[in-house]
Amino acid sequence: MSVKIAFIGFGGVGQSLANLLWKQQEELREKYGLEPIIVAVSDMMKGSIYSPEGLDIPILMDSLQKTGNVEDYEGGEEIYRGWDSFETIKNSNADVIVEVTFTDVETGQPAIDHCRTAFRHQKSVVTTNKGPVALAYEELSLLARENNAYWGFEGTVMSGTPALRMPVYTLAGNEITKIKGILNGTTNFMLTEMEKGHSYEESLKKAQELGYAEADPTSDVEGYDARYKAVILANYLMGGNIKPEEVQCEGITGITEAMIKEALSLKKRWRLLAKIKKDGDHRITAEVKPECINEEDPLAGVTGATNGILYECDLAGPILLTGAGAGLEETAYSLLIDLIDFKRNS
Ligand code: HSE
Repeated sequence: MSVKIAFIGFGGVGQSLANLLWKQQEELREKYGLEPIIVAVSDMMKGSIYSPEGLDIPILMDSLQKTGNVEDYEGGEEIYRGWDSFETIKNSNADVIVEVTFTDVETGQPAIDHCRTAFRHQKSVVTTNKGPVALAYEELSLLARENNAYWGFEGTVMSGTPALRMPVYTLAGNEITKIKGILNGTTNFMLTEMEKGHSYEESLKKAQELGYAEADPTSDVEGYDARYKAVILANYLMGGNIKPEEVQCEGITGITEAMIKEALSLKKRWRLLAKIKKDGDHRITAEVKPECINEEDPLAGVTGATNGILYECDLAGPILLTGAGAGLEETAYSLLIDLIDFKRNS
């Protein structure tokens, strides 16, 4: 089954997915019956291009590398240039919108409006932007259902590690009563770099160079990124209806090199933990803050940009999932999981 795809936003994650779809095309067709055709790319900085028959990915990536602009693509017969994101969503022949724009985490825009527009036009969306899920989950999931559209957002928590799908499918039948997790790769990378003797500033710089940090690292180091992920877990997995501002949040800016050293001497580790729990009245609460945990704690063993989640399940007991939580290819892979799931559900 061919699936026509439009990229809204074409930064590192989008380009990484385009390359992945190109490189894996035979395997995707043979194993999953998925034939992705990229028909449009629309990026605020790099311009927009649309070809209803499909763009040639190596040519597109080549012109992007040469000029930094997708509109310099040469090829195809029926190509429209200069389309903006909303026009691309509404008027292109795409079945699925890959929404990977630089989105303001506090407002969730423009990603929320991109999702709204897509669903209203009966188009499916896969996204790694947290804003739409953390701020508008109820509204958007209803809109998607009403319009028979698919909505995938696996990459919003733990990038390509299946933190959302694994509990829903594999742990089906359990009630998850508590979640404790390291949900931000940048800060976990920084804390473990500091354990190796590097300064806070050196560790942040390295995390940014490796592409783990958000465009504005304030969101990582102040804990806001982990807070959004905690809200997604609370509402999507535990049936909550909480808002980011209801989650108490403290980041790692107060953690000094001396505190790290002292913890190590006591066989402890500082970790930025998100905790979500359901009380006796089924009320869901969440908080994000640094904690000094014993080195035997399974989450103390989660190092570098890796994330970890401990799900407390009523039947299966505690289940620990660890894996990548950030990175361009890892995040691109989460979109591939969503696209394969889209195909399976079609
Ligand atoms: N900046 C985020 C992190 C990326 O470091 O975990 C994934 O949301």
